[in-house]
Amino acid sequence: MPRAAITAVGHFLPEDRLTNADLERLVDTNDEWIRTRTGIRERRILRDPDKATSYMATRAAQEVLDRRGISADEIDLIIVGTVTPDMLFPATACLVQHQLGASNAWGFDVLAACSGFLFSLATGAQFIESGKHQKVLVIGADKMSSIVDYSDRTTCIIFGDGAGAVLLEPHDGPYGIIDSVEHVDGSGGDFLKMEAGGSLLPASHETVERKQHSVRQEGRQVFKFAVKGMADVAANIMERNDLTGNDVDFLVPHQANLRIIDATASRMGLDPDKVMINIERYGNTTAGTIPLCLYDWEHRLRPGHNLVLAAFGGGFSWGATYLRWAYDGSKVRGVKGEG
Ligand SMILES: CC(C)(COP(=O)(O)OP(=O)(O)OC[C@H]1O[C@@H](n2cnc3c(N)ncnc32)[C@H](O)[C@@H]1OP(=O)(O)O)[C@@H](O)C(=O)NCCC(=O)NCCS
Repeated sequence: MPRAAITAVGHFLPEDRLTNADLERLVDTNDEWIRTRTGIRERRILRDPDKATSYMATRAAQEVLDRRGISADEIDLIIVGTVTPDMLFPATACLVQHQLGASNAWGFDVLAACSGFLFSLATGAQFIESGKHQKVLVIGADKMSSIVDYSDRTTCIIFGDGAGAVLLEPHDGPYGIIDSVEHVDGSGGDFLKMEAGGSLLPASHETVERKQHSVRQEGRQVFKFAVKGMADVAANIMERNDLTGNDVDFLVPHQANLRIIDATASRMGLDPDKVMINIERYGNTTAGTIPLCLYDWEHRLRPGHNLVLAAFGGGFSWGATYLRWAYDGSKVRGVKGEG
């Protein structure tokens, strides 16, 4: 059975920045509080009203194709993790397929909030491992600014917009995805959700007035579950694969809160320089965070590096992936890593 290996990474970040100072003008908050409680300094915002998640996803995917030197019609499958699709249907994957000109691909969206990229990656890997497909695009993309209430200081400080994408291809050698663990627990659903716009609460004047089309979260509860969930699942995947902190070259954590990341790294016994962190620049881009980290750190990745990817998010949903990196990131044309 071939393994599914990541063979290219791409990204898209809007140019507009929303800094902590900007947020001080919108809600009762301050830079020091945001930095010490979350680790965030600024986020990117897609302000063009004519552009949405599929635009960012397509840009990230196009960069993957350019870097790998392949054409869109070679893609077999497109999976998009997102909670901010352009619209409920068609799926974002269909919009990306069309914008990319991926004439031989099928695709679908995965709705798993902050675990969206990890769940999409695990799903895409199955199609490679089974031999059904040769080239699978896995994208994590969210325009969180479209569902954030910028008068709610408990959520608007956290989220930003962005997209990351990877290509999965078969690898017969020792590299690629070795193991993954996924969980959901719907009893946590009430702590982090967007209530309206679905079949239970279709859009109405009332749902708009009650701001039920925005993210609501009980931050303290989510924090408590996230710290435990992400650390437990990361420790679990290490145990299953006989890995110690010394064996792991990089932790690629979902970027929700620096304190959650630190707790996970410490449970894994990792030195801080092995942890990919870019939350200070982009905030929480939901499904975008993990591929955006891979993009920023790609120049430091070498064949055989052991990576543990871990995420926790709405649902609740959480998981971890253990993979052996497949290529020399320093040799990728145009790589300008920031990690
Ligand atoms: C949201 C989050 C940053 C809040 O941090 P926290 O340390 O839990 O803060 P609390 O909610 O306990 O609030 C502490 C105090 O700060 C206040 N506060 C909340 N938001 C604030 C803000 N933006 N600026 C200033 N003060 C704020 C609260 O009102 C509270 O005041 P009180 O003690 O007088 O009641 C944190 O809970 C978190 O990161 N949760 C997980 C979020 C997450 O991961 N979500 C995405 C899905 S993975």
